[in-house]
Amino acid sequence: MTAPAVGLDPQRVLIAMPGCEAATMRLAIPLSGELGHAAVTHFPDGESYVRLYTPVQGAEVAIVCTLDHPDEKLLPLLWLAIAARQGGARRIGLIAPYLPYMRQDVVFNAGEIRAAEHFAALLNPAFDWLVTVDPHLHRIAHLSDVYRMPTVAVEAAPAIAAWIQTHVQAPFLIGPDDESRQWVQQVAGLCNAPWAALTKTRHSAWHVEIAELPDIPPQCVPVLVDDIISTGRTMLAAAALLQRAGQPQPICVGVHAVFAADAYSRLCAATAEAVTCDTIPHPSNQIALTEPLVGAVSRMFDLPLPSNKPMLV
Ligand code: R5P
Repeated sequence: MTAPAVGLDPQRVLIAMPGCEAATMRLAIPLSGELGHAAVTHFPDGESYVRLYTPVQGAEVAIVCTLDHPDEKLLPLLWLAIAARQGGARRIGLIAPYLPYMRQDVVFNAGEIRAAEHFAALLNPAFDWLVTVDPHLHRIAHLSDVYRMPTVAVEAAPAIAAWIQTHVQAPFLIGPDDESRQWVQQVAGLCNAPWAALTKTRHSAWHVEIAELPDIPPQCVPVLVDDIISTGRTMLAAAALLQRAGQPQPICVGVHAVFAADAYSRLCAATAEAVTCDTIPHPSNQIALTEPLVGAVSRMFDLPLPSNKPMLV
């Protein structure tokens, strides 16, 4: 049983992992790709089961799997990549708009691991290329430091800047911590808006403190910009600081809508609006990244064929 072909090129097959069907549809049409069909389920005992129905012999295969909640997605994803390899795909790419574990990029305490590196090591043998969006590159400077395959990191900044220009008059952009400087500076440059990056101390996952605010001109609307919103405590601390300074409620823009526990409801209460890019499906998604993703995946499909890639099967 195969799903109907969406485009004209039978050599390109895009397969959605559960939850990524809509994103896969959006990409398949402009990429002239066929929608592959796979079952990804669990046995009653919890073991993962995959079955790839679409023939992929000689095809360029891309599996679309945004990797929030990565632990539950990883094994079925690897099984599906193995099924595609076993089916004779000539190359298998991973489109993971959100790439997890990148914040675990250093060993802080004895006995911890640098999980970013080890997560990459699990994906490396299974895939021939990787396309993602704004991975959290901080103490790991380049994706190629841990991912041993061609990679493209799509930048969300142009789409975020366009959204801000359309929706906010006189924005003052604020990165809530030093790590956000790279994103806020780029977005501000594209919007031609003033900006600042704050200084954050994280005491725990749920407790952060932000030191002080810069002067914000009275006519400006504060716009918080960061890559990942997880517990939301970083954004909430920045919003609380703005409130104490008598500033209006900020607009809050994140790339990746991870939103753990009560993060989104708290952020909605503390900000004028909480907006994200569509790397993880969420009601806050307002900024579409289909176009730059299509460009990046096109480049991967067109790469010269690799030489000997170790196979997992
Ligand atoms: C890390 O430094 C990132 O840029 C974000 O600031 C961080 O991931 C946000 O995490 P949370 O929402 O849990 O405060």
